[in-house]
This record gives sequence, C-alpha cells and structure tokens, in this order.
Amino acid sequence: MDDAPRHHDDVPHPSQRRRGNGFLRAKLRHAVLTRVADTLTLGVLGRRHHAQPIVARTVEVRSAAWPREYDGLRIAHVTDFHLGHLMPAARAIDAVERVAALRPDILACTGDVVDLELDGAGALLRAMAAVEARWGHYLVLGNHDHLDDGRALAALAGRSGMQVLHGRVVETGHARSPLRVGGVDWGRTVGAQSAAVDALPEVPHLLLAHNPKAFRAAAARGVPLTLSGHTHGGQVALKGRPRANLSFAHRLSAGTYHQGPSALFVSVGAGAWFPMRVHCAPEVVLLTVRSG
Ligand SMILES: [Fe+2]
Repeated sequence: MDDAPRHHDDVPHPSQRRRGNGFLRAKLRHAVLTRVADTLTLGVLGRRHHAQPIVARTVEVRSAAWPREYDGLRIAHVTDFHLGHLMPAARAIDAVERVAALRPDILACTGDVVDLELDGAGALLRAMAAVEARWGHYLVLGNHDHLDDGRALAALAGRSGMQVLHGRVVETGHARSPLRVGGVDWGRTVGAQSAAVDALPEVPHLLLAHNPKAFRAAAARGVPLTLSGHTHGGQVALKGRPRANLSFAHRLSAGTYHQGPSALFVSVGAGAWFPMRVHCAPEVVLLTVRSG
C-alpha cells in the first residue's frame, strides 16, 4: 500500500472559481506568446527556455533606516515563478531549495506564484513554507495570482504555511525589538499602490509589494526596505545594462534603488511571460540587509 503523505489542495473546481475579467485575455496572450512562438521556432525557443538555469544570486542591500538590531538579516526573496506551462513545479521547487541552502532568516515571496490556473500551486507553496527560516514565510499576491482565483490561492497559501500579507503588518524577530513585516496586495498604478501603502496600520521595516510602483509611498512613509518583482527586468536587456530593458512601463525595473534612507530591491524573478530571457537571467535572491 502506498502510504506516502498525501496533500489535498482542496481548491475550488474551475467552474466555481472567481475568475477575473482578464483570465481569458491572459490565456489567449499566453497561447500566442508561448505556444505559437514555440511552433514557429520548431520548439527551439521552448527548449532553450527550459534549459536556462535559474540563478541563485546573493545581493547586499544597504538602508540607512534599517534597524541596527537586524543588520545582516538574510532574506530569501523569490518572485514571479509563473507556475504553469513555462514553469513546471519541479523547476520552481528546485530554485526554492537552492536559495534555502543559503540559510535565510526570512522567506519573502512577492507574487505571481502562478501564471494562470492555480492548480498545482500547493506543492510550490508548501516548498516555500518548508524553507528553514526562523522569522517566517511571507507572501503577497501578484496580478497573475488574481486571474484564476486570488482568494482561493491566498487561502491555499495560508493552509500551506505561508503568511499572506494583504494590507497587514506583522511582528517577528526578537521580542524586545520586533521586526515589522508588511505587505500590500496587487495594484496597477502608483496611485493604487500608494493608497495601499498609506492604509497600512503601521510603518513596516520590511514591505512586500508585487509592483515596485509602491516604492514612492513606501519611501514617503519612511519604510526602510521594500521588495518587489513584477517587471521581470523586461526579460530582454542590453548586455551589462540590466536597466536598459523592455520593461518600458517601469522606471524601477531591476536591482536596488534608494530614495533618502529607504531602499527598494526589484528582483527580475524566476519565471517568464514568454519563453525568452536575454541578458536577464531568471533568479532567486538571497539578500543581506545592512543598516547605515
Ligand atoms: Fe510576473
């Protein structure tokens, strides 16, 4: 008898999901950008994409506002897996395990766990929650996470052991001087993200926001460090110039930015919308945060 542990993701049947208006549009766009492109290139694009390794990168970020007690804090920052046709669960879980081996204190996922359907997300969410990180495992949702059923995905993440930060600030770290970790849900514009940041009940030390457009309000509120994804660094950049990329809608598209004592780190993410990344390797990141 097979007595291996079983997991029941218990997600709503596709016919019961609260699909956003964008679901069918996204599905069509996905088909054109991936399957058609793959057919036209006789599968070369897809094969290259799946052979391209996800890099586990280490980055040091400095923030003058970062609390001294947490100088040297290590954060595994993972984002934009886009689980689905271009990202099998095994590839995503392997990337999570490699950043876990770098011994983080916190795991932070800034959204787009799935590309379209939420089916199969449970295994990845459980892998993230299983990372040995003494001060917790946090998630905010991205725009893609809302396409199929954002509420169901958030519920699944919670059952998997992740803390979903939807407009919340939680305390972790040392009891005598806790570290506040907050998160805002997806919003498309600077205005939407600013409203979400302004609505946080208190100022977090660490803010998770899928969209880097949250940084304007985060810096205005004096948030020491904001982590984002969403841009994928444009997926295509000029050699040696990661910010000269196709993410034209984003001024803050890749790497570390500072405004006053506040810092923002934008990861180019692990996954893809289309099966191509040029001078913009898919990544998971171990951040070491330095105060001063
Ligand atoms: Fe994304």
